[in-house]
Amino acid sequence: MQYDIDFLIIGSGIAGLSFALKVADAGRVAIVTKKEAVETSTNYAQGGIASVLGRYDSFDLHVQDTLAAGDGLCRQNVVEMVIRDGPSRIRELMDWGVAFTRRSADNDELDLVLEGGHSQKRIAHAGDFTGRVIEQALLDQARRNPHIGFFENHIAVDLITYSMRMKRGTVTAAHEDVCCGAYVLDTGNGEVHTFRAKITVLATGGTGKVYLYTSNPDIATGDGIAMAYRAGALVGNLEFVQFHPTCLYHPEAKNFLISEAVRGAGGILIDARGRRFMEDYDSKKDLACRDVVARAIDNELKKSGDDSVFLDITHKDSDIVQARFPNIYEKCLSLGIDITKEPIPVVPAAHYMCGGVLVDIDGRSDVERLYAIGETACTGLHGANRLASNSLLEAVVYAHRAATHAKAHLEKKTLDFCPEVPPWDPMGTTDSDEAIVVSHNWDEIRRLMWNYVGIVRSNKRLLRAKNRIEMIEEEIHQYYWNFKVTPDLIELRNIAVVAHLIIQSASLRKESRGLHYNLQYPNKDDRHWLKDTILRRPFVG
Ligand code: FAD
Ligand code: SIN
Repeated sequence: MQYDIDFLIIGSGIAGLSFALKVADAGRVAIVTKKEAVETSTNYAQGGIASVLGRYDSFDLHVQDTLAAGDGLCRQNVVEMVIRDGPSRIRELMDWGVAFTRRSADNDELDLVLEGGHSQKRIAHAGDFTGRVIEQALLDQARRNPHIGFFENHIAVDLITYSMRMKRGTVTAAHEDVCCGAYVLDTGNGEVHTFRAKITVLATGGTGKVYLYTSNPDIATGDGIAMAYRAGALVGNLEFVQFHPTCLYHPEAKNFLISEAVRGAGGILIDARGRRFMEDYDSKKDLACRDVVARAIDNELKKSGDDSVFLDITHKDSDIVQARFPNIYEKCLSLGIDITKEPIPVVPAAHYMCGGVLVDIDGRSDVERLYAIGETACTGLHGANRLASNSLLEAVVYAHRAATHAKAHLEKKTLDFCPEVPPWDPMGTTDSDEAIVVSHNWDEIRRLMWNYVGIVRSNKRLLRAKNRIEMIEEEIHQYYWNFKVTPDLIELRNIAVVAHLIIQSASLRKESRGLHYNLQYPNKDDRHWLKDTILRRPFVG
């Protein structure tokens, strides 16, 4: 089946939904999303969204904090633009129905809180389930809009580009690198549909599932980065994987985060013997930036051989803790941990991808008509390390920029430029009955990334990882073309590509900066490495 539309948006998190709401008055919008629409990282965000909203705060302070976290690699113009646009975007979220927590029932002012790396209280939040409140409000708006169509349980397989058609000998080289939609698998009936679009937007979120331990939901398999790379787009800074210091350590808890806001509210990290250790690592102690705290915990665990460290908030008033962190309180209690009476066992886990599809200030990739927004993009805001709660902010600001740009240029674009997109070619494939190969490779990639390309890296570990991933990729390649595509196989192919790109980027950067730490190069090298790590797929003729 072929669908012809104006805007194809892949992903239904904060980035994709905000973009959709902004362009719906200009054309037909299709949101393709691989599970239920609500299943996004956005939905699990806890801490909140950073913006200059407080009386004593200033744009300059937020800019300084963002630049300090980014460790030399932020693009200053992007940082300035995002931070200055923040308050307008927060007001817009509120107009769309997002109910942020107020200071009190009879006070209209937002309750702004502190997180690591911020010099001011500037995190707007909705309890400790900010993401759920945002996702729900945006989904409600989008579902009510007659110009927006939802395709749930549809997973994008690959982008359709001119160069792809050129390989089949139908267009000339002059048209290379223009995106005209995507092939999308309906996971309900196994059919691959063609979505032809004037504008295609990747809003596919993060890459946490590339690692064995992650705070991310299952959808975070880096599909947007992998698809864009295969389509010939530039990708950048993929070595900068943020590990959140405090994910709940419990055999029955899958991917549950203990928000940084708990440390913002006075929570203290201690080891199994009750010793505070962050003062050994940074003058900001428990409120140091995430890279510092995650490395400190990693070091403590390696020294002690313990399974976890602990986050202690028991010294705070029990009623206040329960009121401020109802989600965390309930979740921990359901696992037998009363956070008002005992410390919470925590470990670091892969949380956020600072790199991604390289885009300009309007969210455009270097493939024409292809935008990337939200976590899948590399805008230059985060540099070598993201400041807490700057991600939701970046997503709404870039959705706004990209939508404004795309609308302004829509008129000039028609679908005539790609009149005959060939339907997906199943190439005589049969159903695979060897799902075990897929799950084995999934597991192997996630383990090798955790062991060799984690919080602390070394040349030897990176080389080992490179050799392994090349073999796995070869296997996946053969498997991919021999069997019918399934969601698991599509995601496996994507996590393999993203893992390979992370390894390549980490191997190229011969220094330690921000989130990237290599034992052989423990220092920053501004002379050679004050630059992005940029990769493009080699041309296959
Ligand atoms: P997502 O919200 O992840 O949405 C991605 C969408 O793309 C999903 O709908 C998914 O199904 C879809 N998709 C992916 N691949 C495909 C495909 N091939 N085909 C079709 N659909 C596809 N940031 C903050 O700023 N503040 C916080 O407090 C905060 N807390 C967090 C807590 C947790 C537990 C996590 C995991 C992250 C947190 N973050 C936080 C980070 C932030 O939530 C994410 O970076 C942000 O929500 C990403 O939004 P997005 O729209 O780019 O992607
Ligand atoms: C958290 O609540 O700790 C997550 C905040 C973020 O990822 O920005």
